[in-house]
Amino acid sequence: MTDTAARNGAPLWIGTSWKMNKGLAESRRYARGLADHLAGTAPPGVQPFIIPSFTALAATRDELGPDSPVLLGAQNAHWEDHGAWTGEVSVAQAKDAGAQLIEIGHSERREHFGETVATTRLKVAAALAHGLVPLLCIGESDEVKRAGESSRFILQQAAGALDGLTAEQLGRVLIAYEPIWAIGENGRPATVDELREPFADLGREYGGCTMGLLYGGSVSTDNAGDLLGIDHVTGLFIGRAAWQLPGYLRILEIAAHHAKAMCGQA
Ligand code: PGA
Repeated sequence: MTDTAARNGAPLWIGTSWKMNKGLAESRRYARGLADHLAGTAPPGVQPFIIPSFTALAATRDELGPDSPVLLGAQNAHWEDHGAWTGEVSVAQAKDAGAQLIEIGHSERREHFGETVATTRLKVAAALAHGLVPLLCIGESDEVKRAGESSRFILQQAAGALDGLTAEQLGRVLIAYEPIWAIGENGRPATVDELREPFADLGREYGGCTMGLLYGGSVSTDNAGDLLGIDHVTGLFIGRAAWQLPGYLRILEIAAHHAKAMCGQA
């Protein structure tokens, strides 16, 4: 039995961030289509989540409906509840607009917007304080990987954001390992073999005590099943392949099949 099989019934987390894409109409259409498809029930063994732009959070929440099985997330949030922070949106405001989960520390924010280990730590604490799920993204550059430092680097990023949390708090955290070299148009999809070691290391540190360890970076309908088969991987965080609803639905289906197989029902 793989470690994934020993999930004790915990769901596979399958979600997508739309990044800086989709206006209100498109966000609504996607959310309505997803809600219609799921008809009030998540695929068995799967926890779906979607992360629109801030501007579309409330509209997306409304389309999903009050008791949706889909968790709604924000792509970032400030740690203070309010104040003189022009251009920022607080965890409290994101929650007010419907967010139940806060994505924290995506590599695009670290690279372009000055996100640091220190700010990821503040944001994780703020999300937890408001009862929201922090989705902490970690990942190394190609340079760090080539130096053979991947595991050391990502464990440091994780520890910097999570050290000092109580066991109860850590149990409400999701971690997404997203190697920078595997993300986006210019990314190279990671092979299963390349991911075994980082996930073994992450699994040892955080596998049993967090809510999930996700993989992200060029996830597609072609590789989703194999990625979910890696020890300690309990979810996928998807960009491009889920920006159109059929792609997301297909990956949800693959995950449900995987969850079922893990329970010996295939
Ligand atoms: P991608 O994006 O799936 O388009 O590579 C992943 C991410 O940035 O989380």
